[in-house]
Amino acid sequence: MMNGNVAHQLRLYTGLVLFFFALTHFINHAFGLISVEATMQVQEGRTFIWRNPVGGVILYGALVVHIGLALHKVYQRYTLKMPLWEAIRLALGLAIPVFLLSHIANTRFAHEVFGVDDTYIYEFVKLWPNVGVDQTILLLFVWVHSCIGLHYWLRMKMWYRRTQSLWFMLAILIPTLSLLGFYAGGRLMEQLEADAAWLAALKAETNWPDAVEATVIADVKKLGLAIFAGLVALAFCGRQLRGFIQSRAGMINITYADGRSVRSKPGPTLLEISRANGIPHASVCGGRGRCSTCRVRIAFGIRYMEDPAPAEQELLDKIGAPPTVRLACQCRPKSDVRIQRLLPHDAGVSSVPQVADAFDNGVDMNIAILFADIREFTKLSERKLPYDLVFLLNEYFRAMGECITREGGRIDKFIGDGIVALFGLDGDPQKACEDALAAARAMSEGLQKLNIALENDLPQPLRLGIGIHFGYAVVGKMGYEMVSSVTAIGDTVNTASRLESATKEFKAEFIVSDDVVRTAGVDLSAFQRQQLSVRGREKPLNVYVVEQAHMLPVRMPKDPNAPPTNWLARLTPNWT
Ligand code: FES
Repeated sequence: MMNGNVAHQLRLYTGLVLFFFALTHFINHAFGLISVEATMQVQEGRTFIWRNPVGGVILYGALVVHIGLALHKVYQRYTLKMPLWEAIRLALGLAIPVFLLSHIANTRFAHEVFGVDDTYIYEFVKLWPNVGVDQTILLLFVWVHSCIGLHYWLRMKMWYRRTQSLWFMLAILIPTLSLLGFYAGGRLMEQLEADAAWLAALKAETNWPDAVEATVIADVKKLGLAIFAGLVALAFCGRQLRGFIQSRAGMINITYADGRSVRSKPGPTLLEISRANGIPHASVCGGRGRCSTCRVRIAFGIRYMEDPAPAEQELLDKIGAPPTVRLACQCRPKSDVRIQRLLPHDAGVSSVPQVADAFDNGVDMNIAILFADIREFTKLSERKLPYDLVFLLNEYFRAMGECITREGGRIDKFIGDGIVALFGLDGDPQKACEDALAAARAMSEGLQKLNIALENDLPQPLRLGIGIHFGYAVVGKMGYEMVSSVTAIGDTVNTASRLESATKEFKAEFIVSDDVVRTAGVDLSAFQRQQLSVRGREKPLNVYVVEQAHMLPVRMPKDPNAPPTNWLARLTPNWT
């Protein structure tokens, strides 16, 4: 069996080659909007790249390897349950060769075997209008398949996240121009083809395939389709057979920390087992062993598992995981295990350690900072045994941490009973403030649930104080050796802390600065507005005082006076 990491890398690089080929093809079509001559000139450049021996080997080698790896992946799949984006990509990937074979047979094959000069005009006359729809479908399938793959590869990279909207616009623009160019070229060919003399001259000039050659081309296409269909059937049948053989080895039990237990044949990864049984499991990278969001603590059964492969171990080392923690997408239990998923199932990209790498050298950026603290915790702690206190705090941190990460925040640190969280590390100020407000609301609700769950352990319900402010801060990875994390420093941090402590003065659960509310573009006029003096600031700060953060509406009303969302600003990173 091929090493999973090598297969991922190969699939990525061959996919990039094919994407680049498709991109040049689409751009070529788009030149049809200018003139056929322009299109022909661009095609000459493309031919130079892809028709030389090296280009040809790279292109067709990439195509064969990419398809082969995709089928191998199908064969390896334990379950066909997968996230929607993965299902769409797989379905499109399997459909592309069906449409592509016709194109290859009529162009490259005809050129190599019968000496056809498959110029752009030749291709157009061949394609238009009979197979124009097929080619449009092919173009769209290739583009969507490629874009999904690229997006899920790049979305953990900060530069991509900061400029995501720009790429999204290009992803729409390029195929649109390409299709318009294709359509314009097709209409022109329709007119030219009406001229019999012109058509005869073209056929002579391009060494148009005669009837026998056309039959061979059609047969080659059919043969290619039959081979591909056979390979697809082989992959799916092989997968069934493999599952059957594995199930004969007996079944194993996988027990989750929440008490759920499922049975599985040995062989699939823990992530596949979760998916097959409808148990939500975080997997930002889609099971490629790159994000670590699927990680689980193996509470029982680790000694019967194989050691992590080097790539898995490397990522586990990077996040400082103890030996009982494994990547669910990489480890395949062979006997009963009990596991605990360590991240909420909807953990996002901000939970990926690689995102933190972008802050190694420190950046100056606009972020929202949330401070939270348990009210009168000192009094409570004096009446508790150490064991009870640690249990209580861990339950509280777990509940609040889940609320924060679920809403797109990143925990900066836990200090005593306090929590500091950052929002907007991906450089979108408006979303940062929207998420921070949603997190405050979720934390308030989460605390209510926690109070009910711990009713018998608490002399009185826990109460929170939450403060949020938005502004410039220096964000960077700080600390020493293993004890380092992405944190923020600056006046914004101090102000957020001041807002949290002011909740005591106002006897309210939540205080948020006007800067957060304005940046989020929401209307909190239903809540009390106050002015708060903050040390180091000349003018008092406008804030909103919210008695209970869970009183914030789920869908906060938009401020009618707020400036419209500035999409251009959203495209422009606010890093300096
Ligand atoms: S899903 Fe990303 S590492 Fe497992």
